[in-house]
Amino acid sequence: MAFRAKADVWMKGPWLSLGGPRALGTRAALASKAVRPFEAIPQSRNNNWMRMLQIWKEQGYENLHLEMHQNFQELGPIFRYDIGGTRRVSVMLPEDVERLQQVETLHPRRMLLEPWLAYRQHRGHKCGVFLLNGPEWRFNRLRLNPDVLSPKAVQKYIPRVDMVARDFSQALKEKVLQNARGSLTLDIQPSIFYYTIEASNSALFGERLGLLGSNPSPASLKFIHALEAMFKSTVQLIFMPRSLSRWTSTKTWEEHFEAWDYIFQYANNCIQKIYQELALNRPEHYSGIMAELLLHGDLSPDAIKANAIELTAGSVDTTSFPLLMTLFELARNPDVQQALRQESLAAQASITDNPQRALVELPLLRAALKETLRLYPVGLILERLLPSDMVLQNYHIPAGVLKNFLVETLNQEDVRMVYRFILRPTTLPLLTFRAIN
Ligand code: HEM
Repeated sequence: MAFRAKADVWMKGPWLSLGGPRALGTRAALASKAVRPFEAIPQSRNNNWMRMLQIWKEQGYENLHLEMHQNFQELGPIFRYDIGGTRRVSVMLPEDVERLQQVETLHPRRMLLEPWLAYRQHRGHKCGVFLLNGPEWRFNRLRLNPDVLSPKAVQKYIPRVDMVARDFSQALKEKVLQNARGSLTLDIQPSIFYYTIEASNSALFGERLGLLGSNPSPASLKFIHALEAMFKSTVQLIFMPRSLSRWTSTKTWEEHFEAWDYIFQYANNCIQKIYQELALNRPEHYSGIMAELLLHGDLSPDAIKANAIELTAGSVDTTSFPLLMTLFELARNPDVQQALRQESLAAQASITDNPQRALVELPLLRAALKETLRLYPVGLILERLLPSDMVLQNYHIPAGVLKNFLVETLNQEDVRMVYRFILRPTTLPLLTFRAIN
């Protein structure tokens, strides 16, 4: 049985007030009673087949987060539902997520992401950590950690990310200053995408792409479109058994494969360049995560390639949308923006000397980013297959289950968010960047 630990879904207003018949206060009463069977867990009214039909008709499931929210409001902090014959339970309270983490083994298991796996199986590609479970996941993950996630690794690639951030800020500043009014109103989303691709490419492959200039490459533009098409088709395919969707959604499968083909081709080009350079000579200085992985040789080249593709594809939207939404929230909360500016000005000298200090010297910025992720959780759902039976909410759950700019906006309205595997805004009000001293 799949287990879904759901992050808070964003909605304006006092959304955490679970005012329904099973409000949080009822838990104390339940706790003293005998454990209730799985079947007693409130069940979502949504009909499984109707949902599939709806996803198929509407070519997506854009309101998943709103439906989840409604279910939590009506049914309480735990509810169950079926998708494609799989029994799932959703929980939202930190204490339940904590209990789930406590029973987690060395080999946490997630549902396999069918469309992504199907692509790799058909094309004969290996999977990286995102798509692995069990010992193979652990084997890969332990060998990636030292070069990707360890504080030592982060220290090595942070200057590269810092450099891209400074260039991005500088490029924006030049555009703003070109304007006679000293301000620039624009849809910043495309520029942010280029910035995150540039930063990711620099940290992963040690190469600058030059995307922050005035003529970004068509290849990168195509890469962004391919990511979008891949995420969109993923949602159209994940809620339906493959045996059915191969007949009902042939066009979507084609689009999905086409999108992955381009993403693989794009990432392959980046990887090939590194292979060639490393074959010619060993770099004298740090030259990115992939070079380290290849030089250490703890994972096979195929495994490194599989993980590189996941890191390349996983790094763009996840960072772009939270940055965009942070700017939007700062634009409509000028006091917070002012406080962040003060904080970064105070830390400026120290961070210029050592970019790693940004992680400790900007607590308000950290909090603002966390708050954005709470309001607009780009990764909506965290999923686990339970390793053993457990009790949650007194129910038995069986096993198997920027410093130089002022950002302004005229638009105070909330932004509509849609689920396209990641949660993203549909449209965004224009932001105005104003140069300040
Ligand atoms: C705010 C940004 C991000 C969010 C909210 C996010 C969310 C998530 C979530 C929920 C998972 C599943 C974790 C689990 O099952 O325990 C995950 C896994 C993963 N993410 Fe992200 N992610 C973000 C940024 C990134 C970036 C920037 C990259 C690549 C550079 C990335 C690459 C991955 C990979 C490779 C995995 C699989 C890890 C594993 O299973 O060992 N993510 N992410």
